[in-house]
Amino acid sequence: MTKLNIGILGATGAVGQKFIRLLQNHPWFTIKALGASERSAGKPYREAANWIESIPMPGSVAELKVRNCESAEFDDVDFVFSGLDSSVATEIEADFAKAGIPVISNAKNYRTDPTVPLLVPEVNPDHIDLIKSQTFTADGSGWIVTNPNCVVVPLVTTLKPLHDAYGIEAVILTSMQAISGAGYPGVASLDILGNVIPLIGGEESKIHTEPHKLLGTMTDSGIDFADFPIQATATRVPVENGHMLSVTVGLKTKADASEVENAMKEWQSPISELGLPSAPSFPIHVHRDARYPQPRLHADSENGMQTAVGRIRNANVLDITYVAMAHNTVRGAAGGAILNAELLVEKGYLKGE
Ligand SMILES: NC(=O)c1ccc[n+]([C@@H]2O[C@H](COP(=O)([O-])OP(=O)(O)OC[C@H]3O[C@@H](n4cnc5c(N)ncnc54)[C@H](OP(=O)(O)O)[C@@H]3O)[C@@H](O)[C@H]2O)c1
Repeated sequence: MTKLNIGILGATGAVGQKFIRLLQNHPWFTIKALGASERSAGKPYREAANWIESIPMPGSVAELKVRNCESAEFDDVDFVFSGLDSSVATEIEADFAKAGIPVISNAKNYRTDPTVPLLVPEVNPDHIDLIKSQTFTADGSGWIVTNPNCVVVPLVTTLKPLHDAYGIEAVILTSMQAISGAGYPGVASLDILGNVIPLIGGEESKIHTEPHKLLGTMTDSGIDFADFPIQATATRVPVENGHMLSVTVGLKTKADASEVENAMKEWQSPISELGLPSAPSFPIHVHRDARYPQPRLHADSENGMQTAVGRIRNANVLDITYVAMAHNTVRGAAGGAILNAELLVEKGYLKGE
């Protein structure tokens, strides 16, 4: 297939840099344009970005001139990924969609819009068709698709097999979130070194709401949301990459730990046969060794796209308890968005000129 030309909005940020890293040598997509704030626009990328990835900045982007995030400056791309700061994403992403440039976004701004798919390809690929109800352009050429909060990704990936097999009654969780999730420079070192911070502002409300849309049912009139209470405590811990979750679940149809372990192991991803380049072979890996998963050992499994699960056991409160962990800036951000784009190509929503 002819490769699609893509742009990255927020290309200088932590998520933007992860996009650049993950898109090197991508078989379907070529980076054509980079956008950031007016502080960066006009500069070569190597000057504008404070490069924090652990590989050298790719030569293919180092000399690209950073553009303003205005749709008129991106008329040479087929679609854009957005890693924009949420304070500016609403207007900028709408500007691109109205100009007929599809936006695949990491920002939270459109996640709750009833016409915008909130997508994890292994969980709710059919929600993609919500795009047809968007009205940014008369001919449907411009639209927005979002991916969820970085804690919600491992949460819904592990809840999905239980939701399908038993139904979910209630969820209680505590997240232990890596510092890379706060962007750069992120959390002050004096706050986080040797410490745990018991609140991440704005995080818990996303964890309380996004799973219901993701686990909802697509109907002719939109998404019929799943309906169960979630109680989350979001904490920041001195880990570089990989958000760990301690999750306790109440099930509508009772099941014990071994049945739940089998349900997770036997669950078939609905996209497993599509051969999408960034899709993990096994979206969930269940560890039986009680020392695992650990962020340092397992965040990079399957190129950072796998959710690791461990310590599945019967709970004293509700029914089942386990830990889950996924790479927050890969599976929970840029990698998740790239997989969304691959599914959109496969479903015919993204095409070259
Ligand atoms: N970090 C994560 O793990 C994670 C996970 C999931 C989702 N997200 C979401 O992804 C987005 C990016 O997060 P991040 O951690 O990469 O943040 P970040 O490091 O602060 O980067 C923000 C980006 O937005 C650009 N920007 C800021 N103001 C702008 C403006 N007025 N016009 C155009 N561009 C502007 C910045 O450009 P300049 O460099 O020119 O200022 C930079 O490229 C956020 O919405 C965040 O909530 C992050």
